[in-house]
Amino acid sequence: MDRFARNFIVFSIMYLALASLLGVAMLWYPSLMALKFVHSHLNMLGWVSMMIYGVGYHILPRFSGKPLRYPKIGEIQFWTANIGLIGMLVFYTIYIYHPALSYKIISVSFGALEVFSIFLFIYNMLATLLIEQAT
Ligand code: HEM
Ligand code: HEM
Repeated sequence: MDRFARNFIVFSIMYLALASLLGVAMLWYPSLMALKFVHSHLNMLGWVSMMIYGVGYHILPRFSGKPLRYPKIGEIQFWTANIGLIGMLVFYTIYIYHPALSYKIISVSFGALEVFSIFLFIYNMLATLLIEQAT
């Protein structure tokens, strides 16, 4: 298994742990409901999407009988997806408690990096599955 595929799976499992701890804390302290976006996206972009990236990078090329087209882009996607997610959620949290425009701009910028990482995955997967490669 490629290193970045395995790392996606390992990080995904860590996001599940973090998100579920935050979820149960939100039940206990209703004021933490202000961080519902953090909980839901630790889950949806962290746990769910990263598990899909990791498993997808490993099995989709094998199902189609072709190697992953751009392993280097997979590695870059691992870093951009994680830096984007953590940066977006950390600065969102800071913004909730200190609503200054600068924090909002930084959170949105990391969010844009997250979107970029999503498009790297889309491009790499479609290039692998759809484009015929010389063998
Ligand atoms: C121990 C595990 C978990 C706990 C204690 C928990 C707790 C919560 C709580 C308290 C809320 C806020 C509900 C509200 O607005 O009234 C919430 C929302 C949410 N949770 Fe969890 N959660 C857990 C696991 C998960 C998992 C595994 C996922 C996804 C795979 C998930 C996805 C979501 C989403 C998407 C929302 C937002 C739903 C909405 O806005 O209506 N949660 N969770
Ligand atoms: C860069 C990617 C993404 C960004 C910037 C983003 C942003 C947002 C924002 C701003 C909201 C509204 C939050 C609020 O009402 O306070 C939201 C809600 C939601 N998003 Fe995303 N999202 C992204 C990706 C995803 C993905 C990939 C999924 C599912 C796999 C997802 C699932 C949800 C769900 C279930 C909600 C409603 C629950 C909630 O309010 O937290 N999002 N998202």
